[in-house]
Amino acid sequence: MKLPRLCRLLALVLIPLSSPAAESFTPGEIWKDTDGVHINAHGGGVIHHGGTYYWFGEHKISGPKGNSAQVGVGCYSSADLITWKNEGIALPVSEDASSEIARGCIIERPKVIHNASTGKFVMWFHLEHLGKGYATARAAVAVADKITGPYVFHSSHRPNAGSLPVNHNPEAEDRVFEYFKRDLSGGQMSRDMTLFADDDGKAYLIGSAEENYTLNISLLTPDYLGFTGVYSRVEPGGHNEAPAICKHEGRYWMITSGCTGWDPNAARSFVADHPLGTWKSLGNPCVGPNPNGGPGPELTYGGQSTYILPVAGKPGAFIAMFDVWRPKDPIDGRYLWMPLDFSHGRVLVRPPAEWTLSVFDQAVRP
Ligand code: DGJ
Repeated sequence: MKLPRLCRLLALVLIPLSSPAAESFTPGEIWKDTDGVHINAHGGGVIHHGGTYYWFGEHKISGPKGNSAQVGVGCYSSADLITWKNEGIALPVSEDASSEIARGCIIERPKVIHNASTGKFVMWFHLEHLGKGYATARAAVAVADKITGPYVFHSSHRPNAGSLPVNHNPEAEDRVFEYFKRDLSGGQMSRDMTLFADDDGKAYLIGSAEENYTLNISLLTPDYLGFTGVYSRVEPGGHNEAPAICKHEGRYWMITSGCTGWDPNAARSFVADHPLGTWKSLGNPCVGPNPNGGPGPELTYGGQSTYILPVAGKPGAFIAMFDVWRPKDPIDGRYLWMPLDFSHGRVLVRPPAEWTLSVFDQAVRP
């Protein structure tokens, strides 16, 4: 008789001391990890492995240096996509100033995939060497035996040196062809990027090339550590950044942004029957008003795309991940994760209202 009363008393005392665990996605709010600290994984991507989700992203700091890599790439783990445990820094920057990933360089948009044949976890990211602004424009790769790291820097690349794209068309009117030709022998530029591993085991790096005018989709080598020279140029002159891609019902769907630095702009969307294209433009995937009264669909609700995450065990369920950048205080950047809706023959982003995974169990909107 006495025990339950004691339990009730203890519960009354203890429960108010611990902050309630989040149960829903609250786009744009502070998202705390299990230590109660705002999650620090910007421009990131999520991989599901062994029943757990792992979120990798740029670890930012406060103040003017906050968007440079002062720490490295962070990793968080979760079973439910809402409760995230900090797994630490998966790829630390180097204290050796001559290293390609020396502290103070720029490391953006890290993504991790698993290579089933080698057993390795492979992280690609956009790399800018220390003190060079955004002139380096390289895709870089690091490798680990364990998903949470440590990842060891492997190499950096100007992709596809000397190779013509599979959709090469020298006759086509193309106002940025000069950049393509300039970089043909040394390799194409690679800035904003994502990774996509197809179900046939092939993996692709999708990156902004040609001074950000063109998006290149490049087939990686079977070990995922380099480029094969097989690639296509998407939307030459279209100025696409922030690519995010998924496969749904046998087709490939991509969301990108325009190029306005840290400021939001209107997202774009595309569909193709193969990762190498041909990609068809479907327009802005954000259509509904912002339920929070902030920036509307014409400004991607204040965000910029970074990744499309398939929800494990729920075929057809995808979460589009966007960053809200805070360039004056980068560590305060926020996350807009919203469900995707394919019910209109397009890829549509649902407006950033609070939501739970149960939306994927409901019937699609008419
Ligand atoms: C927009 C990109 O999407 C970001 O990753 C970052 O490179 C900023 N530009 C820098 O201005």
